[in-house]
Order: sequence, then structure tokens, then C-alpha cells
Amino acid sequence: MTILVTGATGSVGRPLVHALLDQGVEVRALTRDPSAAGLPAGVEVARADLADPGSLTPELFAGVDRAFVFPAQNVEPFAAAAVAAGVERFVVLSSLAAAREFARDEGSASQLHHAAVESAITRRTSAWTILRPGTFANNLLSWAWPISMGAPIRVPYLDSAQAPIHEADVADAIAAALLDDGTIGQAIPITGPQSLTRREQVGAIAAGIGRELEVVEISPDEFRADVAQFVPEPIIAMLLDYWRDTVAEPDRVRSVEALTGAPGRTLQSWARDHRSEFGAA
Ligand SMILES: NC(=O)c1ccc[n+]([C@@H]2O[C@H](COP(=O)([O-])OP(=O)(O)OC[C@H]3O[C@@H](n4cnc5c(N)ncnc54)[C@H](OP(=O)(O)O)[C@@H]3O)[C@@H](O)[C@H]2O)c1
Repeated sequence: MTILVTGATGSVGRPLVHALLDQGVEVRALTRDPSAAGLPAGVEVARADLADPGSLTPELFAGVDRAFVFPAQNVEPFAAAAVAAGVERFVVLSSLAAAREFARDEGSASQLHHAAVESAITRRTSAWTILRPGTFANNLLSWAWPISMGAPIRVPYLDSAQAPIHEADVADAIAAALLDDGTIGQAIPITGPQSLTRREQVGAIAAGIGRELEVVEISPDEFRADVAQFVPEPIIAMLLDYWRDTVAEPDRVRSVEALTGAPGRTLQSWARDHRSEFGAA
């Protein structure tokens, strides 16, 4: 079986490629820049842009049975070309926001984007599985700079609780869905294995990298001022709404185990896997 992996050079795509190779699958990896892809030997690397119809040639899809759809900015051209080329089965990376379980999700940047990505596939075929992860543990790399500098981490809503998911668990869940037709037609929410307050998340990272960490609580306005230069306002608003809501209603855990056969990786193990990014040996 040949699986076309889009987003193959990303933080989810790389472990996905490895998970599929481990299962004996032929992997064709799509990237806009093959020279920088750095993918393992045995992977066929193809140049294309999901949003550029001209790059989505018949050769890209020749022999492809299934495809993983990365939620890039505009996947309409890719969805149209892949279905027309006869790709039989799709797994789409989306977001829990697309499930619109909470009032805050309605019209949020993430809900609007991922709803469009889902629809690009579900309008064209019924052979899909959608994975809807909650917050990625990788978002906590925003603390890497203060941690590696030995500065206090500045955090609003310290008592709010989320269930961050390791990118390798997202990848393993996608690999399982690509290989198991029992999930066809399902939109599956997934999170990390523990709902932890932001204070506990700092503790898990401290344990993972083997260092004491200092954290200070800041107000939402101070957070906005800290990040306004780097983060667009709709994303800041989405994050603050999420953390505000998860004080009273902590994230509920939605385990990957039913899909992957293993409990999700803990935040402590995620931090250990990323210790160099936190400046730890
Ligand atoms: N952060 C969260 O809490 C969260 C929660 C739920 C869902 N998500 C979703 O997960 C995504 C992040 O996944 P990630 O960490 O794996 O991303 P990432 O590390 O930023 O990687 C992005 C990948 O997308 C590819 N890509 C982007 N635009 C493309 C295009 N036009 N054509 C072809 N390839 C394109 C890039 O490939 P090349 O550069 O090699 O072409 C790269 O492989 C988010 O964007 C969001 O949609 C995130």
C-alpha cells in the first residue's frame, strides 16, 4: 500500500512517516521543498503545494491508495486533485475546535480554518476519518525561551487545566486511522492523557528536563502586551478564552488508546523529548 503524507516535514508529519514505515507501508512524502525535507531513506519525496493546482500532477498521485491531509491554509486544490486521481481513503488532521463543543469555539480562528479543511474532503468523498486533537504540547515551546534563559515563565490563568497532546501521539493516531477502515466516517477527538493545571504543566516540564522552574501569574492584559508583537489578535483572543474557560471546566481527557493501543505519552515525557529546546542536556 502507498500512502501520500502531506505535512511530512512538520512536527506531526515526521513521526507519522516513521510510524508508517514501521508498519511496512510505502510512503510518498509531499513537501514544497524536497531539498530541505531531510526525510528518512526509503521515503519517496515529491514536490507540490497543497494550494497550487498546477503542482498537483497525476504523477504525484500515481499508485497512491490513501492520503493524510495536513490542514494547510487552502487544501481545496489538493482535495479536488486527489479525489479526481482516485485516491480511495483520506485521514484529515483537524482540531477539537471544529467540533464546536464550547461556545468559545464558534467563529474562532481555529474552528473556521479547520471546518474549511474538513469540508474540502467530506464534500467530495465518504471515505474519510477526521482526527480532532485538542491543544498540542508543542504550544508549550512558547516557554522555551524563558526556561532556557533561567527567567520566570509568565502565565495567565495559572489554575486553568488543559490536556496537551504529544505530537507523536497525534502521529500514531493518524497512522492507526490510515490503516484501520473501522474509523471511516468518524470525527475523533483526541487529547493528552492528563488534564493538568498550567501550574502542574510547569511542574511536569521541570521534572522532564530535571530543573526547578519559576512561574509567575500575569493578567490577561499583561499576556496580550507580552505577545502582541508576535501573535495575531484573533489567536490571542482564542487562547485567552480557552484558558479562562478551563479554570471552571478543565479539559476532559479523550484518550488515543482506543486508536493506538497505547496510553498517551505524558507531558513529562514530552518535555524530556524536547529537553534540548528548553536548554537542558
Ligand atoms: N497547535 C495546536 O494546539 C493544534 C491543535 C489542533 C490542531 N492543530 C493543527 O496542527 C497543525 C500543526 O501541525 P504541525 O505541528 O505538524 O505543523 P508544522 O510543524 O508547522 O508543519 C507544517 C507542515 O505543513 C506543510 N505545509 C504547509 N503549507 C503547505 C502547503 N501550502 N503545501 C504543502 N505543504 C504545506 C509543511 O511542509 P513544507 O514546508 O515542507 O512544504 C510542513 O510539513 C496546525 O496548523 C493546526 O492546523 C494544532
